[in-house]
Amino acid sequence: MLSGKTVLIGITGAIAAYKTCELIRLFKRNNAKVRVVVTPNAMNFVTKTTLETLSQTPLNIEQFIINEYKPEHISLVDEADIFVIAPISANTISKIANGICDNLLTSTFCAFKKPVIIAPSMNINMWESAAIQENLKILKKRDVKVIEPEVGFLACGAQGKGRLPDINKIFEAAKEILIPKQILKGKKIVITAGGTKENIDAVRYIGNYSSGKTGIALADNAHKLGADVVLISTVEAQKPYKIINIESADEMFKAVKKEFKDADSLIMAAAVSDYKVKNKSDKKIKKDGKPLTVELVENPDILAEISSIKSKKQTVIGFCAESDNLIENAKIKIQKKHCDYICANDISKKDIGFSSDYNEIYIIDKKLNTFKIEKTDKQTVALKILERIYG
Ligand code: CTP
Repeated sequence: MLSGKTVLIGITGAIAAYKTCELIRLFKRNNAKVRVVVTPNAMNFVTKTTLETLSQTPLNIEQFIINEYKPEHISLVDEADIFVIAPISANTISKIANGICDNLLTSTFCAFKKPVIIAPSMNINMWESAAIQENLKILKKRDVKVIEPEVGFLACGAQGKGRLPDINKIFEAAKEILIPKQILKGKKIVITAGGTKENIDAVRYIGNYSSGKTGIALADNAHKLGADVVLISTVEAQKPYKIINIESADEMFKAVKKEFKDADSLIMAAAVSDYKVKNKSDKKIKKDGKPLTVELVENPDILAEISSIKSKKQTVIGFCAESDNLIENAKIKIQKKHCDYICANDISKKDIGFSSDYNEIYIIDKKLNTFKIEKTDKQTVALKILERIYG
């Protein structure tokens, strides 16, 4: 079930560490590759031999081993699809919430940008302490999934909340992230990506800074969620779904019209040029010492055109990139273009949008309800957009 996936399991110094041996077996039984990283204190509760035998890989414990010319924590980060820390002690919760990197496990967490699940286990008073609860809040805000401890008889003799959650629950939570629910199975989704190019002559064109990353991330994630994806793109890519490469807005419009006929949805993530060159030349224009005048005429507005002909069953989603008054302009745009949703992003912020790997999006629906997706990598933003709209 999990073949091709690598699960990094973190173990910290808590008595429930012995239960993690069963969790490793569960992942192995489901064909996942398992790597294990422990804090030095965890070794008081489980042995290297047990962990290495169960995971069938060398245990990671020392911080300063250089593996294939990469620091160990970076090798682990690159390899794993998910990081599951179970049990996580009060001490490690506090360290990772505050960016402390004093051992291999905490350093790995700090460099890990993919999904993280933590399963705390500790004494009830420690669990209830203000510091731990505050630190958990910080982690949740940063998208770390916390599986709350269970209530019961604790190893310290107390009765209450603090037991490591059932390992099947931890496994299921990881599985849900690694194999997303096929919410788009049976649906055809057309997605556009990249900036269109409008030829001036045989060698020059008018373009824009769009990298196509958002459109491609949407296509990747729609495919993962089971959709039959058609990506219409100015950027070339090798993907396990259909890609139609085009350059100009006219070519994009033609391809979109054809593919949308039997589609369930269109996502216009491309940065479509508003204008094309009226008097473009098929040959290279030679300079002759005089100013060159290029006349621009408007391109079709693909989003507005498709929204005007779509059936009630079809969903059309637009994007809008704004440098001022983001939400107000996005609301005007959705009303003007009559699409079902608009995803707005602020291009005045240098750390998100265009060429960046990160984005922050506001989804606005027809009733002008607004939903914010906090800044994160473009792949995660794409998944969240799809889950929000189609989930
Ligand atoms: N769009 C389109 N066809 C165009 C221009 C834009 O389909 N000729 C789509 C984009 O793909 C995007 C949405 O319209 O989904 C909004 O694009 P944006 O450039 O923000 O809006 P414009 O309509 O171009 O408005 P302006 O440039 O004036 O802000």
